[in-house]
Amino acid sequence: QSGEGQTEDYLFKIVLIGDSAVGKSNLLARFARDEFYSNSKSTIGVEFQTQKMEINGKEVKAQIWDTAGQERFRAVTSAYYRGAVGALLVYDISRRQTFDSIGRWLNELQTHSDMNVITILVGNKSDLKDAREVTTAEGKVLAEAQGLFFIETSALDSSNVTAAFQTVVRELF
Ligand code: GTP
Ligand code: MG
Repeated sequence: QSGEGQTEDYLFKIVLIGDSAVGKSNLLARFARDEFYSNSKSTIGVEFQTQKMEINGKEVKAQIWDTAGQERFRAVTSAYYRGAVGALLVYDISRRQTFDSIGRWLNELQTHSDMNVITILVGNKSDLKDAREVTTAEGKVLAEAQGLFFIETSALDSSNVTAAFQTVVRELF
C-alpha cells in the first residue's frame, strides 16, 4: 500500500448475497441513501454503490454489490464474486426457508472467492417481531459454527444497518 495516509487507498468490494426478498437491496438503500422501499422489485442483474465510511478516523470506501437472490435474475456468478473481500449473507428472520439456504450461499461464496472473505451473517427484518421464525440464538449458533460475524438488522426501522456494514469494513481495514 503506497501513499500512507491517503484515504483513496482504501476501496473494499463487498457483496450482498442471500435468497430473494430477504432485503438485500433495501439494506443497501438504507445504508447508502437512508431510503426504504416498501414495494421494491426483485433486483435484475447487478447494481453497486460506493459508500464512504469513517473507520478509526480514516476515510475508506466500500463498493457494495447487489444482485438478485433468484438464479434467473442474477449477474454472472464468477464476475460478481471476483475481487470481493467482504460479504453480507442475508436471511429474513420471518422466513425460515431463507435461513435454511445459508449453507448453499456459503458454498457458493467459498467456491467463487479466492481468498478469505470477511463474512457477516445478517438476520434482516428484526422489526417483524410477531412473524419471527428464526430465533436470535439460532442465528448466533450458525454464525459461530461457520466462523462468521452475526447481527440482526432492520432496513425498515434502520436498526443495526450501518453496524452490519461497519463490522465487515472495520475487519478489513
Ligand atoms: P432480490 O433482489 O429479489 O434478491 O430481493 P432483495 O433481497 O433485494 O429484497 P428487497 O430489498 O427487494 O426487499 C424485499 C421486500 O422486503 C420488500 O418489500 C421490502 O420492502 C421488504 N423489506 C426489506 N427489508 C425489510 C425490513 O427490514 N423489514 C421489513 N418489514 N421489510 C423489509
Ligand atoms: Mg434486490
